[in-house]
Amino acid sequence: MTHNTFALKGTICFSTAPDTIQFHEDSWLVCENGKCAGIFSELPEKYSRIPCRDTNHCMIIPGLTDLHLHAPQYTYRGTGMDLELLEWLNTYTFPEESKYRDLTYAQPAYSIFVNDLKKSATTRASIFATVHVEATELLMDLLEDTGLKTFVGKVNMDRNGSVQLQEADAKASASDTRRWIRNIQGRYKNTKPILTPRFTPSCTDELMRELSCIQQEYHLPVQSHLSENPGEIAWVQELYPNTHFYGEAYDQFGLFGGDGCPTIMAHCVYSSDEEIALIKKRGVYIAHCPQSNTNIASGIAPVRRYLNEGLHIGLGSDIAGGSSLSILRAMSDAVQVSKLRWRLTDSTLRPLSLEEVFYMATLGGGSFFGKVGSFEEGYEFDAVILDDQNLPHPQKLSSRDRLERLIYLADDRNITGKYVAGQKLF
Ligand code: GUN
Ligand code: FE
Repeated sequence: MTHNTFALKGTICFSTAPDTIQFHEDSWLVCENGKCAGIFSELPEKYSRIPCRDTNHCMIIPGLTDLHLHAPQYTYRGTGMDLELLEWLNTYTFPEESKYRDLTYAQPAYSIFVNDLKKSATTRASIFATVHVEATELLMDLLEDTGLKTFVGKVNMDRNGSVQLQEADAKASASDTRRWIRNIQGRYKNTKPILTPRFTPSCTDELMRELSCIQQEYHLPVQSHLSENPGEIAWVQELYPNTHFYGEAYDQFGLFGGDGCPTIMAHCVYSSDEEIALIKKRGVYIAHCPQSNTNIASGIAPVRRYLNEGLHIGLGSDIAGGSSLSILRAMSDAVQVSKLRWRLTDSTLRPLSLEEVFYMATLGGGSFFGKVGSFEEGYEFDAVILDDQNLPHPQKLSSRDRLERLIYLADDRNITGKYVAGQKLF
């Protein structure tokens, strides 16, 4: 047995289905060679000599996955929250992202982001960087050192940006993308590239064709934005009058899921029946970002429908549309906005349950990374220890109550341990 074979003791919780959380009170969770190897009320004899950590009744949950966030937006999160998407992008986002041309700016800014991500309950994330190759590599270097497992995308945008933040043309954008992919080949264990056309309005047809060639050549996954905001959707319809729905603008270039092209699309607030059918057919992952959709007035995604249809769906912080990096917070936000949607716009779509948001934050999003997001045998050992001792209560609580309270009340002080693929981060 190798050094990443050990056991943790605590109250173990994990999803086995979208509507089911299993709880094992005061039990041992064994990690063998970086994988989950079982849950036991008494540690079996064959594990009697492995290192053990008794968390003293803490809760142990699978590491959380953030399916969508923008690293360069972290340091201005919480500003410009009175604007809508397109205005917010032009006023705050593009000027801020343009600063990452300068590594002396990027270095401290990305360090702040990476340190906070490390302390959070997130173990896996799919991250947008900026258009800049050098700063993107710097971000990847910093992330690699944390032990977190991430996808990182150098952003592509060759139109509708700003003078400071836009690539010269499709050729320049594609050649920078190729240079970036070549530079990082073989450099990382934890950090992988993902193709990142910002969104349809940012990318010319020529650039999308280039990205399609790069995708096929390197077999990279793809991430982008989809059907987030009414103004954005109307703009895409103007740009592509021949398409029936926004998703077709990606699909026509082969950048919308399907075999060999795992894809995450953030938001899907206003996806039509046809778009949902294609998302399902192509196995596209939806990143539900409830706080961002509230902050920049995008709307409320019909997540109940997506779960009913069996779509792949996880949660995203969408920093800085979302101001909180916490996926615990994203879970409570997802419940809250689903209730508002149910109450105010569609009483046929029942609000989300604790079980469902916990599933999205763990297995739902984690499966984009492989066998991730569960403690069932054979899953990669991503675990977070949550200590609720500073949240006292006179009454007896069930494990489910304790988990729910932590989701609503925890901050980084409650996160007292974290493991990724069997490696201890703290
Ligand atoms: N659409 C295109 N770019 C962005 C971005 O940076 N954030 C969000 N929320 N939506 C976008
Ligand atoms: Fe986003």
